[in-house]
Order: sequence, then C-alpha cells, then structure tokens
Amino acid sequence: IHGPERKVAAGVEFGDRRALGDLLAAIRQTPEARQAELILAGGKRAPNPAAGRRQAISPIDGSAIGRVENADASALATLMQEAQAAAKLWSRRPVEERAARLDRAAQRLEAEAPRWLRLLQLEAGKTLDDAVAEWREAIDFLRYYAASARKAFGAAPKLPGPTGEDNRLHCHGRGVFVCISPWNFPLAIFLGQVAAALVSGNSVIAKPAEQTPLIAAEAVALLHKAGVPAGALCLAQGDGKIGAALVALPGVAGVAFTGSVEAAASINRALAAKDGPIAALIAETGGVNAMIVDATALPEQVADDVVASAFRSAGQRCSALRLLCLQEEVADKMLTMIAGAARELRVGDPRDIGVQIGPVIDADAKAALLAHIEAMRAQVQNGVIEHFAGEVGATAPAHGFYVAPHIFELASPADLKAEVFGPILHVVRYKAAELDLLLDAIEAKNFGLTLGVHSRIESTIGRILERRLAGNCYVNRNMIGAVVGTQPFGGFNLSGTGPKAGGPHYLQRFVVEQTVTINT
Ligand code: NAD
Ligand code: ALA
Repeated sequence: IHGPERKVAAGVEFGDRRALGDLLAAIRQTPEARQAELILAGGKRAPNPAAGRRQAISPIDGSAIGRVENADASALATLMQEAQAAAKLWSRRPVEERAARLDRAAQRLEAEAPRWLRLLQLEAGKTLDDAVAEWREAIDFLRYYAASARKAFGAAPKLPGPTGEDNRLHCHGRGVFVCISPWNFPLAIFLGQVAAALVSGNSVIAKPAEQTPLIAAEAVALLHKAGVPAGALCLAQGDGKIGAALVALPGVAGVAFTGSVEAAASINRALAAKDGPIAALIAETGGVNAMIVDATALPEQVADDVVASAFRSAGQRCSALRLLCLQEEVADKMLTMIAGAARELRVGDPRDIGVQIGPVIDADAKAALLAHIEAMRAQVQNGVIEHFAGEVGATAPAHGFYVAPHIFELASPADLKAEVFGPILHVVRYKAAELDLLLDAIEAKNFGLTLGVHSRIESTIGRILERRLAGNCYVNRNMIGAVVGTQPFGGFNLSGTGPKAGGPHYLQRFVVEQTVTINT
C-alpha cells in the first residue's frame, strides 16, 4: 500500500543477515506443543470439551505440534447466543473505537514477527519468503480495513434534499457473521475476513481450516488482547461439517467464505434453503487460471514469471497459474527454458533458507496430487501429452508431504477440467490466428480469478483484456501476490461472488445501509 496505511515490516528485513540468521535459528528450535481451544464468548470453556480433541499436524514432517478441541453442536448454539448478544453492543461502539483495535492488533503482530513466522512455517509449511509475505499481508489487511472503516463509516453523509429536511445514509453491522477460511493463507485470509466483519460492526464466529487451527487460535487471542470483546469474536474449531453446521444456525446474518468452489456452492444452497432473514454471502473461491504468452514476449521474463506463478508456495495459491498457453512458434523454446528453471527449484524442508518449494498441506493433498500426476502420466504413455518432472530434494523429511513440480503438455485447454491445487502446470499451444478460439476456451471454463498476459503488442493485450476473463489480470509480470490496496483481489463466475479483498468497496458487503429522513 502506498500512503499512510503502509507501515509494515519493521520486524524483519532481509538486508540484515544477522537478524535473519537469528530468526532461522529460532524457527529451528523444537516446537513446543500448543493448544488451540474452542474459545467461547466471555472466555468460558466449551460445555463438552471432550467432543472432538485432535492433533495439529505439521506438513513439514507429519509430526504432532499441538492439540485442538473441536466445537460440537451444543457449543455452536452457545457461541451463537453469545455472539448475538455481543453484536448489539459492538455495533454501537464508535467506528474509531473498532478501528483502533485493529490498529493495535497490527502493531502487536508487527512487533512479534519471529513468533508468527515460526508458526506459519511449522503449521502451514511456508518457506520464509512466503511466511514473511503472508505476515505482511495480514498487517496490511488490519490497517487497511481500519482506515477504510474510518473513511466509509466515520460520519453518516448528509444527502441533498428540500429545505427543512435532513437526509442521511447510515451503515450498520448486519449482526453475526460466520467467517470460514482456508489453510493456504491461515493468517492473512483468516484475519482479513474477521477484521473486515468486526470493523464494520458485526460480531464474528470464525471457523478456520481444520489443517491450521493453531495459527487461528493465536490470531483470535491477538485480537482479544487488542481489545476486541470476547463475545464479539468467537472461534469454532473443526472441519467442513462444523462449518456447515454453523452456516445452518438460525441467527446467521452473513457468511464470509474463502475456499473451494464445491464448499461455496454447498453454503449457497444451505443459506437459500433457510427460513428467516436472508443472509449475505461473500464467497471467494478458486480458478483454472490461464496465462497467454505470444511470440513477442520476453522469454527470460516469461520463464521467471511462469515458474513463480505456477510453483511458488508449492502452487497452493488460488491465484496460481494452472494453464499456460504458448503461441506455437515460441512454444518449444519457452518450454525448454521453463522446464530448465523448474528443474533447478529445490523442494524440501521450508525452514532451510535454500529451499524454494515446501510441502503441500497434508497427506490427502499429496495423495490427490500424486493421483493427478499418475493420470497425466498414463496419457503421456498414450502419446497425448508430454511431461517434465522435477525432483524432491534431499532436504525433504521422509514423513513430510512433498510433491515435486511437474509440467504436462495437453492437447487442448478443455483437457484441464478443474483446479489442481499444487505444483503442477498444464501447457497448451495455440496458433496466433486462433487467439479468439483460445479465449473462448478459457471463458468456457466459467472461472474468473486471475489471468496473465505476456505480449509486447498493445492491440493483442487490449483484445485479451476486453474479454474480461478474470477479476485480477496481470500483464508482463507474474500473476500471484496481490498487494492489499494496490491489487484488490477476487474473482467472479465460479471464482466468487465478486468482492475485492483489500479493495475500497469490500467493507460495504458487511453492512446494511439505512436512510434516515428527519423533518426539521
Ligand atoms: P475448502 O473449501 O476445502 O475449505 C475451506 C474452508 O471451508 C475450511 O475451513 C473448511 O473446513 C470449510 N468447509 C468445507 N466444506 C464446507 C461446507 N460444506 N460448509 C461450510 N464450510 C465448509 O478449501 P481449502 O482446501 O481449505 O482451500 C483451498 C481452496 O481455497 C482452493 O480452491 C483455493 O483456490 C481457494 N482459495 C481462494 C482464495 C480467494 O481469495 N479466491 C484464496 C485462498 C484459497
Ligand atoms: N491474494 C493471494 C495472491 O494474490 C491469493 O496470490
């Protein structure tokens, strides 16, 4: 972010090699076992704590790093009562007070960098680069939404009207928001959703991904310490079934969801089937994201940007490149460069500073990716596609969940039917004269999250962009790492309901508007 909201990164600067060394040493220490409890409003414990105790697992080596207490049905009902009671008080607090609490949380998060980076590495398997980027993004979200709320909700604007009449537009929280988040940005997306809902005057029941409960519990504690009342922010640990049970509760005024298309569709159906007030749904999902590279693109830059877009974060970004479309005249040369660069990537323990690709999140994710690779290899044997495979390096612990980068060349864009959430890139060739057909094929997938273009011909770039194929389009650069306030992030069609996280209109989705006319 440019301007007063950007004040991050006092904690870790990569220029300071000694600080970086100290940080890496701290991260390597044996992890202590941690607890991530069901946090009930008012600090009370769950009525039935034995309901679902489970272990938190590190994807680095499959070891247990903490214990988690899941919510159960009776706990959810209690959470809802507490959150509804809190919403009445919280929504009446001045905007400045709510915003100040986010700023306080941002300050604390910034000051505690090593602890948070360590946790991001341990529980989510992030490389240091990725952990730092996510920690910064979380701080940015807190400050950006605090500043946005002050601007949008600070004073009800007076509207034009006849003499003797005062017309004003007020914005109020909707009530209780259920915030359901994924494991791939367990700090930034978790805090972004929660912060947006809270600062807009809602109380929140947060349901983090089951793979990353510890980070969520720490983030909730951070906001409580910053002054958010316990009832205004409750945490319900558990899997998708707990998420579904939360959505089904009476009293849900809105759901902010980030995750898979399938879960978003299921939440949409559940909300539509409910009696009572109509709840708002903010859904941010995945995509089969394409990059189009024509014959005028700079090969070295394309290779760098493709490798970063497809393989950084082990391909576990919703924004990641899934379908690379190369103009046929340059396809062989580009593929040789890209495959060469991909082969150089080191896959292994993300706490090793030389490693670029850490683990995928869990055993299920690894199994699904290996099954996809096997299915693709079978096609290779049938002569349909070509295949380049990377290696898992010696630094990968035997019991972690590591998948090497793979590149498969497909016969047609239609051969990639769904998002493959890992370090696997699919490639197609296209003829320049058939660019429109390629764009039709991308559009037919019905997603709309990110799109990359590499070309030095302005008219080609214009022709591609005017098709409005994605919510975030990146020209002549990589297509990941949207910056809060600079690249508001989110897609449409199957990729989401369209709100832009980290954008100027996001908070409006969390409020109801009320016009008050007073005859003076
Ligand atoms: P997921 O849908 O499996 O889970 C996301 C969250 O939803 C988890 O907390 C899960 O427990 C919960 N959940 C699952 N089923 C549910 C249901 N029926 N009702 C209520 N809650 C339910 O997704 P994931 O594997 O955790 O995350 C990866 C997905 O998220 C990818 O598809 C990725 O593209 C997407 N994603 C999108 C964005 C974005 O901003 N558009 C950002 C990050 C990730
Ligand atoms: N906002 C994240 C990115 O742009 C998902 O990569």
